Amino acid sequence: MKAGVEGGSKELRFTVRKARPEEIYIVMDINQRTLPENYWYGFYKFLLDNWGEAFLVAETSEGDIIGYAMSRVERTRDPVLLGLKSELENDKSVLSKVIDAIRSQLAEERPVGHLVSIAVLPEYRRKGVGSALLAKTIEVMDRVYNVDAIYLEVRVSNAPAIRLYEKFGFKKVRVWRGYYRDGEDAYIMVKRLVD
Ligand SMILES: CC(C)(COP(=O)(O)OP(=O)(O)OC[C@H]1O[C@@H](n2cnc3c(N)ncnc32)[C@H](O)[C@@H]1OP(=O)(O)O)[C@@H](O)C(=O)NCCC(=O)NCCS
Repeated sequence: MKAGVEGGSKELRFTVRKARPEEIYIVMDINQRTLPENYWYGFYKFLLDNWGEAFLVAETSEGDIIGYAMSRVERTRDPVLLGLKSELENDKSVLSKVIDAIRSQLAEERPVGHLVSIAVLPEYRRKGVGSALLAKTIEVMDRVYNVDAIYLEVRVSNAPAIRLYEKFGFKKVRVWRGYYRDGEDAYIMVKRLVD
């Protein structure tokens, strides 16, 4: 995937491609510089070994890695994670909630993509890199992993990321109280890929 994007006064040329195993340390470095949610080497390796097509890096024409996105595939019968219903809609009656709960217990498990982490180095933001990483993630999840939906967690205060996700059709479907280690709540956002 080739993308050339006008950003500020100078043009940023970059590509989005699969990460190579030796690039895990670069991805770890970007993650530590940009997000408080950090992971150990083995977790990156696990994602790369199992869902390598969806472990992506953005590389400039000068060969610098400036962003990444990494995902996994899970199986669930949770209709919220599958994008079949939202908990943020108008309150339903107790009876329809009970019916929903029974229905989801009886439903079969389906594959769902989980965007674990995405980040772009601060000096390269607002130039389309995050969009290119997210677009490729959605494409790979659909074409390679055949998932029904993609979901992610995002801090309720992270307006830039929420706007990016909404631009790509993700919807807020659940609030996860105290999800983050510092106590902040997360929105679960979902994009359904099949009818
Ligand atoms: C979220 C992030 C990946 C976006 O990357 P990016 O390369 O700047 O994204 P893009 O340039 O493709 O922006 C796409 C859209 O997202 C929204 N957006 C991005 N940054 C924004 C900001 N600071 N304020 C408001 N909207 C913003 C806009 O709608 C933007 O489109 P526009 O530039 O046409 O208005 C980046 O800000 C980042 O790395 N943040 C820190 C890590 C993080 O929070 N990751 C998400 C964890 S859930």
